[in-house]
Amino acid sequence: MGKKDKRWVLQRKKDFYYKLAKKNKYRSRASYKLLQLNEKFNIIKENNVVVDLGCAPGGWLQAARDIVGEDGFVAGVDLQAVKPLEYENVVAIKGDMTKKETIEKLMELIPSKADAVICDASPNISGVWEVDHTRSIELTTIALMTATKLLKKDGNFVVKVFQGSLFNDYVALLKNYFKKVQTTKPKASRDVSAEVYVVGKKFLGKPFDKNLKSPILKLIDFEAIEGEKEDKEKIKIIEGVEEEKGLMIKRIKELRKEKKG
Ligand SMILES: C[S@@+](CC[C@H](N)C(=O)[O-])C[C@H]1O[C@@H](n2cnc3c(N)ncnc32)[C@H](O)[C@@H]1O
Repeated sequence: MGKKDKRWVLQRKKDFYYKLAKKNKYRSRASYKLLQLNEKFNIIKENNVVVDLGCAPGGWLQAARDIVGEDGFVAGVDLQAVKPLEYENVVAIKGDMTKKETIEKLMELIPSKADAVICDASPNISGVWEVDHTRSIELTTIALMTATKLLKKDGNFVVKVFQGSLFNDYVALLKNYFKKVQTTKPKASRDVSAEVYVVGKKFLGKPFDKNLKSPILKLIDFEAIEGEKEDKEKIKIIEGVEEEKGLMIKRIKELRKEKKG
């Protein structure tokens, strides 16, 4: 372990929320971010159905389960596999939240539309502020699109965003879909971190509009999300095969004629 890594491990061991999470058997210190967000904004309530986008290792799943209790339901998704939690009403699937088929799987899992969609997903970090910010905006815009598909009317949404030049546009975009939109940084979020949380309360029930005037929507590759790009590629291949098949049949017919003649 290098000097820098050792310093990081020591720092983490001293961290208040890290210790608290260990003590209370939460899988990550991030659990406290959700608990603090919920205390302030009342995003999730008892008996609610909750969807967690980017849920590994499962700290938010545990905190959400603590809030909804045994009659609620929590479903999560992550690129990484999540070690199963000991609750019957908490499920996590492995998948890419930016893909249509993943969202369809989540829809099948939940007993009703969601009361809350929560998203703590982080893109791959490059270390270059604007790059990471742009990737975060892409991911959080897809999270918003997903929320419009999964939420009940009047449901709530909370999402982690890395600050940067498009942040205000993102907040403006959310205002099209929620009655009230606020931004916050919970105590458990480190001051040095670029992350802030945006909370949308009371979903208006509007479907996602790709054509709204927002610079953010130009960033999103909607064809890739819907799988249309892949479909178009497949159609091209099938068409190619059909063409070849047609030529082959024509050639066989010609050969038969030649034989008869
Ligand atoms: C900060 S962690 C989440 C921590 C979690 N809230 C907890 O308390 O345990 C961010 C997660 O986002 C996930 N993620 C990033 N992009 C994703 C994607 N496209 N689909 C699903 N998960 C993604 C990462 O794999 C990572 O596990």
